[in-house]
Amino acid sequence: MVDLSVKIGKLVLKNPVMTASGTFGYGAEFDDFFDVSSLGAIIVKGTTFEPREGNPYPRMAETPSGMLNAVGLQNKGIDYFETKIYPVISRYETNVIVNVNGSNIDDYVQLTKRIEKLENIPAIELNISCPNVKMGGMAFGTNTVSAREVIRAVRDVYSRTLIVKLSPNVTNIAEFGVIAQEEGADAVSLINTLLGMAIDIKERRPKLSTVTGGLSGPAVKPVALRMVWQTAKAVSIPVIGIGGIMNADDAVEFILAGASAVQVGTASFINPVTASEVVKGIAEYLQLNGFHSPGDIVGNIKI
Ligand SMILES: Cc1cc2nc3c(=O)[nH]c(=O)nc-3n(C[C@H](O)[C@H](O)[C@H](O)COP(=O)(O)O)c2cc1C
Repeated sequence: MVDLSVKIGKLVLKNPVMTASGTFGYGAEFDDFFDVSSLGAIIVKGTTFEPREGNPYPRMAETPSGMLNAVGLQNKGIDYFETKIYPVISRYETNVIVNVNGSNIDDYVQLTKRIEKLENIPAIELNISCPNVKMGGMAFGTNTVSAREVIRAVRDVYSRTLIVKLSPNVTNIAEFGVIAQEEGADAVSLINTLLGMAIDIKERRPKLSTVTGGLSGPAVKPVALRMVWQTAKAVSIPVIGIGGIMNADDAVEFILAGASAVQVGTASFINPVTASEVVKGIAEYLQLNGFHSPGDIVGNIKI
């Protein structure tokens, strides 16, 4: 029979399916649709030390086979997270992972230290790839020197599982995966959104208040898949595949490209039960093809 469990750093996931940060709230929003504890992990909204209002509206635009967003890490900060959100989400019977963001290295470090004190958060996803903030975010993740600095500083103060989320807005993403590995990350996740733009030709003005924003959804899948494949070849730590996963077949493609686990993002806006369907579909694929665990097919393509 099929055993779906996978290991990422010190984490044991009951299956390789997680939710992508910013697309699944804090999980509670989806509780009415399915048992969110049935997922391998829930990665909650991007969190910062101080509260943030995010960017002005409009900050979403639909595009062919995708969407652009410029939410800009809207969240109520770590104090609110500790007192109001944590008590609710720490009851889930799965791994709850916080997506950590900052404007400078000290921000990232201070936030990480606070999260390490929360017993039921077994891992963080270090977001050095947000394209929608003026300071920090993608600026860290698209420069090899600053990427190394921030990963090192966070690793120094964090002993649990550290996942580093990489930006696709670079020429050679594998290079950043290698840096994360060298600095002690337990895993890398990729991709964050691709920088894009849309214009309203009637108004002759950009559709987003920030002019540019992050592209996600099926439109980015081939790019994400290529980047996962390139990164998985370059590192020995687990790679978590993200980008346009709409169903189990898409997830299997990412695993075959070298991902040990996957995240479902934009798809949850269209069909809120996508992540649970992906869990079932991966199990069916493995069973049908005579495999016993997701590990049997990681990077298992004939080239
Ligand atoms: C509305 C929205 C908000 C997002 N917020 C975050 C965030 O706070 N932190 C983060 O690391 N990624 C964030 N992302 C990126 C997703 O987690 C994911 O990496 C990206 O959307 C690609 O996956 P997808 O095509 O399956 O959506 C956000 C994406 C969307 C669409």
